[in-house]
Amino acid sequence: MMTFELPKNSKMLQPEFTFGVATAAFQIEGATTEDGRCESIWDRFCSLPGKVLNGDDGTEACDHYHRLEQDLDLIKELGFDAYRFSVAWPRIEPAEGEWNELGFAFYQRLIDGLIERGIKPYLTLYHWDLPQYLEDKGGWINRETAYRFVDYAEKITQRFGDKVACYTTFNEPWCAAFLGYRRGEHAPGLAEDRLGFQAAHHMMLAHGLALPKMRKAAPKAKHGIVLNFMLAYANSDSAADVAAAHYCNEENNYFFLDALLNAQYPESIWQKHPDWRPMMLPGDLAIINTEMDYIGINYYSSTLIKAGSDGADYDFGESELPKTDIGWAIYPKALTETLVNYKKRYPNFPAVLITENGAADNTPIVDGKITDDMRSQYYADHLLALNDAIEAGVDVQGYFAWSLMDNFEWAFGYSQRFGIVHVDYQTQQRTIKKSGLEWQRFLKARSR
Ligand code: NOJ
Repeated sequence: MMTFELPKNSKMLQPEFTFGVATAAFQIEGATTEDGRCESIWDRFCSLPGKVLNGDDGTEACDHYHRLEQDLDLIKELGFDAYRFSVAWPRIEPAEGEWNELGFAFYQRLIDGLIERGIKPYLTLYHWDLPQYLEDKGGWINRETAYRFVDYAEKITQRFGDKVACYTTFNEPWCAAFLGYRRGEHAPGLAEDRLGFQAAHHMMLAHGLALPKMRKAAPKAKHGIVLNFMLAYANSDSAADVAAAHYCNEENNYFFLDALLNAQYPESIWQKHPDWRPMMLPGDLAIINTEMDYIGINYYSSTLIKAGSDGADYDFGESELPKTDIGWAIYPKALTETLVNYKKRYPNFPAVLITENGAADNTPIVDGKITDDMRSQYYADHLLALNDAIEAGVDVQGYFAWSLMDNFEWAFGYSQRFGIVHVDYQTQQRTIKKSGLEWQRFLKARSR
């Protein structure tokens, strides 16, 4: 029997350390046309042929909108201290400047339901579902969208205040900007480098403008941002591969951190590509460089990078490492190294939350059981890797498993299963997987 084990004296076993589980609105809620919700860029993107595998969409997803109580009971049953969810902006502001009480009511029930069950609410404002009417005016390419986000952030924090333990402005701006506007793999499906960097800058600006107002509205809650990191390792010791990996980290990881923590973007990007530099106004970087209580890190995998061919800045190497079902290399050590590197590069790095970590393991249900041992092993190894980072002096305050249940995995549709609870999409039946039972056992065994 596989178990998640940590050294007895691990800080992760102390009562201050939070263990949670995470989801996001578009991936689980369904009910996309109910109670006044407007269209989001993801509804539109799903409707375009060939964008999402098998033509899947979020119309029903896990039907969480109608199964809220049952799903909250599940989080309680599993024994998590906290639940990280996102609010769908299209439910809250279905037309510009119009605030929808039915939308607030759903999240009010969610937050109250968590508190009644002794579970701490962790709320993300933007997990990629921009109202389509804002995209119609340019979306994140339009600087105005940053100001619309500030209004929305203020409304939410004024309404829910300190009932929410922790607020996040953006989840993974890298994905939202670079997959959405630079590579066209995510909504809204634009594919130009310059647009990717412009969208990213406006998301950073929105974060910097909103955060002080959120803090004012919810002074006791924690406020920060969630970033995804894929540490790039050089494919060989050759100077060219090392330089390519270094640049890849600047373009994809340090781009966000340098702005947030040092009020600058890495110059190496604009040196190579002057036309990628986004339009900025004087003072933007100072706004972005606002104080945060934490940085959330979503960690899944690492990459191997080699010198680029045909004028590319870098190419991807072939890793020998084992992979999860979605094809991502499994390398827990990169979690430790990511955290240790950041502490070195940024002496002012705030407290860390691991806001997502998990594996796609598509083991099917057989006789009512899902024996997802690869996922359990993944969790066990990453918990130990995180403990190593803590022992090396990194201030980590919590860890969230992705995900509570199988759900809509963006461009992969429902083909990839990240849940510790299985969802039968025909019947909406939830079944706790073996990895979920491991979590339950682990969480229960902690002395609180
Ligand atoms: C990061 C995203 O925040 C989440 O929405 C996604 O499902 C997981 N990674 C897995 O890809």
